[in-house]
Parts: sequence; C-alpha cells; structure tokens
Amino acid sequence: MANDKKERMKKIRDEILSFSLSSLYNDRVQNKMFPVIGEGNHNANILFIGEAPGKNEAMTGKPFCGRSGKVLDDLLEYIGIQRSDVYITNIVKDRPPENRDPTPEEIELYAPFLDRQIDIIQPKIIATLGRFSMVYIMKKFGLERELLPISAIHGRVFETSASFGKLKIIPLYHPAVAVYDSNKLNDLKKDFDILKQSI
Ligand code: URA
Repeated sequence: MANDKKERMKKIRDEILSFSLSSLYNDRVQNKMFPVIGEGNHNANILFIGEAPGKNEAMTGKPFCGRSGKVLDDLLEYIGIQRSDVYITNIVKDRPPENRDPTPEEIELYAPFLDRQIDIIQPKIIATLGRFSMVYIMKKFGLERELLPISAIHGRVFETSASFGKLKIIPLYHPAVAVYDSNKLNDLKKDFDILKQSI
C-alpha cells in the first residue's frame, strides 16, 4: 500500500517533469529551475494546498521554503504539528514568471495532477492557502454555493465528502499575506487553532 502510493506519486512527478504542454515548462527548463510536486507524508491527515511555486521553491523543488514557508512553519509549530506529518503542495506545479497570479488556463492544466495527489493521500482535512486553491477545492467538492471572498470564510470548517470518505475543507489566508501584516498573522493563528481542533 505504502509502496503503491510512492509509485503513484513518482509517476505524477515524472509526468510533471516532462509536462511541455504548459507554457511554464519552457521557462523552467531555460532557467534551470524545478517543478514543485509536493512534499510530506503520503498518509497525511492534513493536506495543505497553496497556489504556485515562488522563486525559492522553483530553485529547490520544495514547496513553501521561502518567506511564506517560514510563516507556514511557524504556524505549524504554533499548533504542535510537524511539517513531516502533513503533505504540502500547490495547484500549479511550475513557477509563473515574476510571481504573477496563475491564470485560469494554468490552473486547469495542472489541476488533474493535484486531483490525483488528493486521491493518493486521501486526507481528512484539506487546508487551502489563498483564494486560488480555495476556489478550486470548494468547487471540486460541491461547495460552490458556499463560496464567498476569503475574508468572509477563512477559518470556517466545511464538511463534505470525497470518493474516499468524509472530508473537511478549511480555507486559510495565504501565508504570504502575513509576512508584513501582523493582523493577518493573528487571523492565521486563530484559524490554525481551529484547524488543530478539527483533527
Ligand atoms: N506560495 C505558494 O503558493 N506556494 C509555494 O510553494 C510557495 C509560495
């Protein structure tokens, strides 16, 4: 079972490595960067989904390893959860140039890889980081009618079901918003308290 998960994740990685259908692929190859597949425990109860790799992530192939990653690490430590116990990934697996927002076309192109990762991990909780993953995940799991701006629904726990069982979805602000804004950091801390209580 564990090996099967590993193999299926490896297959996703190999497909993304040669995913030349995406216009972000050429940038990645020309700049000698890496795609960011995801990192963590394949049996995690909690799956965090961000939007797309930034520069640090594309240079290393690791999700959330720059400034927003430091915020995420601190928040995980705040609720006493090890990074190695969760799984962290993004919707878009290659870096959009100049850190621009991912386009709807890019989200549509890369989302099937994320869908497969969700099916492999079968999390109990999906915590979305930022509005792009919030919109994608809430629509995917039948919560489209509950969608509101992230400022209105961050920290709420939406109970739904997936093909593999019950699932809670918790929209969170993207950690990048807390880098220079202590109010947002406080919001994130409160939302992480809720996440901890939801496990
Ligand atoms: N922002 C994201 O959405 N994902 C990362 O991996 C890093 C920054």
